[in-house]
Amino acid sequence: MTHSPVSLRCPTERDTIALGERIGRVLARGDLIVLSGPLGAGKTVLVRGIAVGAGADALTVRSPTFVLHHVYPGERMTVHHLDLYRLGAGADVRFLDIGGLLDSGAVVVEWGELADLSGHTPLRVVLEIDGGARVITFEDGSVPRVIAAWTRDAEVT
Ligand SMILES: Nc1ncnc2c1ncn2[C@@H]1O[C@H](COP(=O)(O)OP(=O)(O)OP(=O)(O)O)[C@@H](O)[C@H]1O
Ligand SMILES: [Mg+2]
Repeated sequence: MTHSPVSLRCPTERDTIALGERIGRVLARGDLIVLSGPLGAGKTVLVRGIAVGAGADALTVRSPTFVLHHVYPGERMTVHHLDLYRLGAGADVRFLDIGGLLDSGAVVVEWGELADLSGHTPLRVVLEIDGGARVITFEDGSVPRVIAAWTRDAEVT
């Protein structure tokens, strides 16, 4: 159950996508979102919703685990999707030029905790598995624009 205003329980994949869509609709250029959670937590599913909210084609969203970087040119916002899993802990991500990516759009990173991204003031989102549901928590209280995505009910109408 959800008690915190920035923690939302998403009972189904559709609910997670709906949350992602609300995030994608308010993302701005320069936003860096770091998604943390175990394998299968729903990070890529959430990114699919974010891309749709940004006006991109959901069918193009897939796990970048073997590619590191996908670009979704949304109608309202370009979303860069990174996955650092394969780089392992302590990865040096300078070659990804995250600063340059943030100049052209928003950046969403799976397994971002494996690298030091603190220079970019990331917004941290944690996904937990609770049976079939996912509990998705926005850990940074300083961006009301993005937190607003959590304030509406997760259920899709
Ligand atoms: N409530 C839910 N929200 C999101 N995904 C769900 C939910 N219930 C079940 N799932 C399933 O969980 C899986 C989530 O997979 P996904 O690839 O998004 O995980 P991930 O966190 O990106 O994992 P990885 O670390 O391997 O990249 C999907 O198969 C999805 O169908
Ligand atoms: Mg993934």
